[in-house]
Amino acid sequence: MTTRHTNVAMQLTVRDKLTVNRLGYGAMHLTGPGMWGDPIDPEGAIRVLRRAIDLGVNFIDTADSYGPGNNERIIRRALHPYPDDLVISTKGGLLRSGPKDWIRSEGVPYIVPLGRPEYLRQQVEMSLRNLGVESIDLYQLHSIDPAVPLADQLGELVRLQEQGKIRHLGLSGQPGVTINELNQAREIADIVAVENLYNIANRADEETLRYAEGHHIAFIPWFPLGHGDLVGKESVLAPIAAQYDATPSQLALAWLLHHSTATLLIPGTTSVIHLEENMRAAEIRLGNAEMDAITAAVDRAKPQAWRPRRIHADITQER
Ligand SMILES: NC(=O)c1ccc[n+]([C@@H]2O[C@H](COP(=O)([O-])OP(=O)(O)OC[C@H]3O[C@@H](n4cnc5c(N)ncnc54)[C@H](OP(=O)(O)O)[C@@H]3O)[C@@H](O)[C@H]2O)c1
Repeated sequence: MTTRHTNVAMQLTVRDKLTVNRLGYGAMHLTGPGMWGDPIDPEGAIRVLRRAIDLGVNFIDTADSYGPGNNERIIRRALHPYPDDLVISTKGGLLRSGPKDWIRSEGVPYIVPLGRPEYLRQQVEMSLRNLGVESIDLYQLHSIDPAVPLADQLGELVRLQEQGKIRHLGLSGQPGVTINELNQAREIADIVAVENLYNIANRADEETLRYAEGHHIAFIPWFPLGHGDLVGKESVLAPIAAQYDATPSQLALAWLLHHSTATLLIPGTTSVIHLEENMRAAEIRLGNAEMDAITAAVDRAKPQAWRPRRIHADITQER
């Protein structure tokens, strides 16, 4: 099912439970180099978060592993007490050992998942404390751990949900959660969101996106700007964006908003100017023919699209 609208609805309601503005904010970069420790400019990070709220952002994506913990704490410092309509989505289930963990290398696993129930419980408790909340709005399993039965991982999160510590549950993956995994997960929990690597130049998870759309699940594309590869003068989108009087980052985001009614965007930036620029993507209107032309132009340019290797049980057993 493909649905596109020239007048894009800027709000998304998932599974009749959660309504948010579709242009949210990804906070990961508000940490130190390598997504490790405190941001180099904490006051600047606070300004970005507060400006995001001023501009209508009411969905922020973070994770316990960003820092670890520092990212959730800077959000708390900037925004607590939180606006009533703000949804903070955090994630747990990854190990961190230092700032070099997530270097784009083909030789080593990109991430190290740990989905043991007792670890997930501890991490939920830590996120509650770091964010300063009694209940987490949306908690995503950061990565399914292939060495632990999914029923044990999600089962523990469901118990935490029953105890009121989590409101909604989601799944994230590197590069992404598959339809098979989503089907299995939905037998255990009501999944309201799935977070996969996806952008105009990296559309391998199209089927998962359409599955999410068909089941009223939010599809949260991580790297919506290609982790920076789709922005600036060198972007494959630069010549096309100029035709729309837009910047490449605005066109990349507008394309995602128009491509499916299920997308919930979390572009990341450490700059108030970039944030303001990105939020104006909501003003761009694209018809079906324009969408097709933009997609075809990007495909013709054959941009290099990086994807991490999928984690398999044999990799995690090395740990
Ligand atoms: N679930 C997962 O496994 C997973 C994995 C990765 C990321 N994520 C989430 O996804 C979010 C987005 O990913 P991301 O931030 O790495 O990638 P992104 O949103 O695709 O791109 C962010 C990069 O683009 C630059 N940028 C943003 N707006 C710009 C503009 N208008 N002009 C020029 N440069 C611009 C930023 O630099 P400046 O700071 O200079 O603006 C930053 O380097 C993260 O914040 C995180 O919350 C989730």
